[in-house]
Amino acid sequence: MENEDRIITSTKNLTDCEVENKLRPVCFDEYVGQSKIVENLKIYIQATKQRKDALDHVLLYGPPGLGKTTLSHIIANELGSQIKVTSGPAIEHAADLAALLTNLSKNDVLFIDEIHRLNRNVEEILYPAMEDYALDFIVGKGPSARSMRLKIQPFTLIGATTRAGNLSSPLRDRFGIVARLEMYSNEEISTIIRRSAQILEVNITDDASNEISKRSRGTPRVANRLLKRVRDFVQVQQSNIIEVKDAIKALDLMDIDHLGLDYADKKVLNTMMTKFGGGPVGLDTLAASTGEETTTIEEVIEPYLLQLGFVARTPRGRVVMSACYNHFGLPVPKNVYNGNNGDDDK
Ligand SMILES: Nc1ncnc2c1ncn2[C@@H]1O[C@H](COP(=O)(O)OP(=O)(O)O)[C@@H](O)[C@H]1O
Ligand SMILES: [Mg+2]
Repeated sequence: MENEDRIITSTKNLTDCEVENKLRPVCFDEYVGQSKIVENLKIYIQATKQRKDALDHVLLYGPPGLGKTTLSHIIANELGSQIKVTSGPAIEHAADLAALLTNLSKNDVLFIDEIHRLNRNVEEILYPAMEDYALDFIVGKGPSARSMRLKIQPFTLIGATTRAGNLSSPLRDRFGIVARLEMYSNEEISTIIRRSAQILEVNITDDASNEISKRSRGTPRVANRLLKRVRDFVQVQQSNIIEVKDAIKALDLMDIDHLGLDYADKKVLNTMMTKFGGGPVGLDTLAASTGEETTTIEEVIEPYLLQLGFVARTPRGRVVMSACYNHFGLPVPKNVYNGNNGDDDK
């Protein structure tokens, strides 16, 4: 099965796009959780508006589906600014980015998704733009070449990335506000599910929203997707209320266990436990033996397994922890990694 077909995946697919627009919060009041980030942003935004200048550049990072794009739109909305949206891989030439930047109005927001995928020569345009609201050009050739500076309007760059580690340090250092989005608690995900159910005009009991929430991997995108599947399930039974028994039945049919693990997670975990004796195993080796992409393992599968305390990253590779053996009812090996065998996150 392709990753796109994975119900549990936090990366976006086509059907998500239509429904996501409907379910996407448009202001801070509708945005659930991430309270520290939201509180800080509210203060920065209020202060910026009082001064009537552009908000500092913002870098949002964290696994897919946690609300980076949503938050970027909310920031622009709360600032009362226009937002222009693009992405790292979409900007091929430095001139494309220069054109985008010169077309911004005062205090606009430029949102660059997947900013870690910008070309190096495109990225260099951003340095003076972010620092001095200026573009630097070289005019002419040889000894007569001189550099020219073109002023642009003050603006706010919002960059979103799943991999902050892949950002060059000159770029990272130019963001005044850097926020890491965390996975959501079950209560927060339940709230999101109830809100989405209301928008989708389907009733849901609290037990049912809790059940879906427990299997949503702390990720709003997954929660909304599971909700839609469960809604379809009750709809074909001519019902308009999702009860916990429906949620359990529908999710079990989708092979999503009570922690939200599906076949891809199980394949990775089983490979680690059976083929590699619990690890340590390198990412490339793990990818080769499971047939998954390294980026899928790193960005989509692994963050939740780390969060659950099922696997850990050590300098020598990934290892399985006792909670994972317990979940699958397997005996815990004596030499299991327990979090302080002298290693730390790489
Ligand atoms: N804090 C939140 N509160 C409510 N819904 C959210 C929140 N964050 C994300 N969502 C929902 O999850 C979907 C995916 O969020 P998105 O911003 O596209 O994630 P990312 O850009 O991090 O991959 C959105 O369409 C929205 O409906
Ligand atoms: Mg996004």
